[in-house]
Amino acid sequence: MSRPRNYGRVTLWLLITPLLNSIASAANDDCPASRLHLSEPPYDNYLLSDCHTSSHVIVTSPVRGGKDLDPRLLVAWPAGNSGIAIYFEPENGVRGSLGLNLENATSTGNALESLDLGSTDSKNENPRVGVTGLVHFDSPAILTIPILGSIRAIRDYSEGGKTLHPKLQNAVAVVPGDVPGGAAIYRDWLDKQTTTWLTFAQTGDVDAVKIIPGDRYTLRFGQGTYNFTATFNYPQMSQLSPQQVLNSGSQDLVAQNPDQTTSLSFLSYKSKILAGTWRFLTYFGRDSMISVLLMRSILSQGEGGAIEAAISAVLERVNKNDGTVCHEEVIGDYATFLNQQNGVDSSAPSCDYKMVDTDYYLPIVMKDYFVDTETGKDRAEDFLNTKASFLQENAGTSYRDLAQSTAEKIMKTSAPFAASQSIENLIQLKNGESVGEWRDSNNGLGGGRIPYDVNTALVPAGLRAVGRLARDGFFTGHEDWKTLADEYAQIWEDKTLDFFKVTVPANEARDLVTQYVKEAGSSAPAFSERITGDVVFYGLALNGDNNQPIVRVMNTDDCFRLFLLDTTNQTQLSSFLDQTANNILAPFPVGLSTEAGLLVANPAYGGSQSYADNWSNSQYHGTVIWSWQLAMMAAGLQRQLDRCGGDKPGKSASDTHSSIYKFFSFSI
Ligand SMILES: *[C@@H]1O[C@H](CO)[C@@H](O)[C@H](O)[C@H]1NC(C)=O
Ligand SMILES: *[C@@H]1O[C@H](CO)[C@@H](O)[C@H](O)[C@H]1NC(C)=O
Ligand SMILES: *[C@@H]1O[C@H](CO)[C@@H](O)[C@H](O)[C@H]1NC(C)=O
Ligand SMILES: *[C@@H]1O[C@H](CO)[C@@H](O)[C@H](O)[C@H]1NC(C)=O
Repeated sequence: MSRPRNYGRVTLWLLITPLLNSIASAANDDCPASRLHLSEPPYDNYLLSDCHTSSHVIVTSPVRGGKDLDPRLLVAWPAGNSGIAIYFEPENGVRGSLGLNLENATSTGNALESLDLGSTDSKNENPRVGVTGLVHFDSPAILTIPILGSIRAIRDYSEGGKTLHPKLQNAVAVVPGDVPGGAAIYRDWLDKQTTTWLTFAQTGDVDAVKIIPGDRYTLRFGQGTYNFTATFNYPQMSQLSPQQVLNSGSQDLVAQNPDQTTSLSFLSYKSKILAGTWRFLTYFGRDSMISVLLMRSILSQGEGGAIEAAISAVLERVNKNDGTVCHEEVIGDYATFLNQQNGVDSSAPSCDYKMVDTDYYLPIVMKDYFVDTETGKDRAEDFLNTKASFLQENAGTSYRDLAQSTAEKIMKTSAPFAASQSIENLIQLKNGESVGEWRDSNNGLGGGRIPYDVNTALVPAGLRAVGRLARDGFFTGHEDWKTLADEYAQIWEDKTLDFFKVTVPANEARDLVTQYVKEAGSSAPAFSERITGDVVFYGLALNGDNNQPIVRVMNTDDCFRLFLLDTTNQTQLSSFLDQTANNILAPFPVGLSTEAGLLVANPAYGGSQSYADNWSNSQYHGTVIWSWQLAMMAAGLQRQLDRCGGDKPGKSASDTHSSIYKFFSFSI
């Protein structure tokens, strides 16, 4: 998954140090804190950012409706994708009985304050920064497991079957605190530069923190409130404030939607925008680019703005040998950890290149900004001449050359199908990989090798964008792409859909939904009477498990084609819109509609218990709702409706449109 690198960290450091120095001298008024508290019992989330650092603190309190959960205090930091998780047990041994929460400081009324202790370590000039607060235990508590370092190590424990890495855990040290009655836990990172610290101190009349000797690192706390500080000395990133992340026309949103804009700002930095906190909180290519496409009308443009941050982060991480766009980066302590596993003593970042969908988004977002906006047009030359510096292997390569390598890959891999429209020439997952696009959980694609979204939408949309960029002079040495890319795109647009088409005769469809509800042991209605004709949809993927030629799961991935393409075969477009409208309007399990929104998958037509089991409501890509799919579906339908303006649609098309308008009036 990750290969050794031995650069990058230094470059990042050089980039960030001048910023930090200029910020460190700024007065407090120039460094306003931004806070957000989101309570979702048994979880309490606190975001805190200022110009020194950004922290996300989450308290899990089993007494607030989470009896099966372990009591936990978690701190997540975007810088270095790092953090701390400490798990507790109630001293009385009764699972589910311990409650913990953050108290507001009486002096400020705030639950958290940020800390900047300056540089405290002669071998590391980075300031030691982080967060402090007051944690309250409602009964005596034992700290059983401290994980200090990388978010990835915390996820390996919390989501990866409680995996603890001895190499990391053995370096955790527990010592008495600086003040009597306190204690501290710290861990030196594998880079031998960085340290993560967690300290506790008594407040008022509470028991002293007691270090319990043994082979595990445990601390005992009495009932009451303790001061904690969580700090680390890794290079910090430069955050975009809510005002900086939004364009000038969207500044009102800061006052109108303070929670959303604070969250967006928490995830937005000058060098990249991050996937969700706390679990991801680092670069993900697909997520960055989909976010830009969906939010382009409100994000800041120009140098230092959000859109360029996202595009440059993608280009920095392209595999220049074959043009593949990076899915996820590995940075910080976990990068050193993986490098050392591979026998290389280096802290250089690395990238995961296993996805097959992410490449196509790159020319689409580039065309969207550098061709379709005035600011982008003005910026294109300077931006594309920028030399990459994040990955050693790309150092000194221009953004233009990196973008071109991705375009070359797209042209090369789409040529066979353009020449001959067979299944073998469609885009497949990489050999040996079971995932390759957004439905990247184990059963997300039902074992399918040839994904629907990639082949029917992303490839042709990527090709259209390459064609347009080529005509605007973005590539060198590829005059032919000015027409060839569109010739390819036309074939991919027109000839791929049929491979994925599933038609279930009405009678069979009624039986299948009735059976599905019965086997689920559910008393929910099957709505089979709503089926008045054949049920038509496009399957998730081809070549699925158990020799399934098409993975017969109804889904929302129609949104990609609607959102990214202006297809030109009217007959095909009308029937496509028609089936989308039918499926998103029909109640689950006939269609995808529920009172809470559209489900991303409906396995009822799969015809076996195994489909129902593999796409259940506890699966990541099962019968669940994803908000960006709803947003892309709405935006996609809007794009298609906008195209109808001057046309006189035929009867079936206008019926379709009125039912889509109905969807809009109910859903938005
Ligand atoms: C802290 O203050 C906030 C806002 O004033 C309040 O909603 C919250 O209940 C307080 N928390 C505690 C534990 O008292
Ligand atoms: C906790 O103690 C530290 C060290 O004395 C102090 O800097 C910090 O402000 C305290 N935190 C709170 C929330 O009082
Ligand atoms: C469901 O998942 C299991 C385990 O991964 C797999 O063996 C089976 O083929 C899957 N069934 C379908 C219909 O995808
Ligand atoms: C348009 O699509 C329909 C339905 O898929 C197909 O039968 C027809 O041949 C296509 N027309 C053209 C001009 O490709």
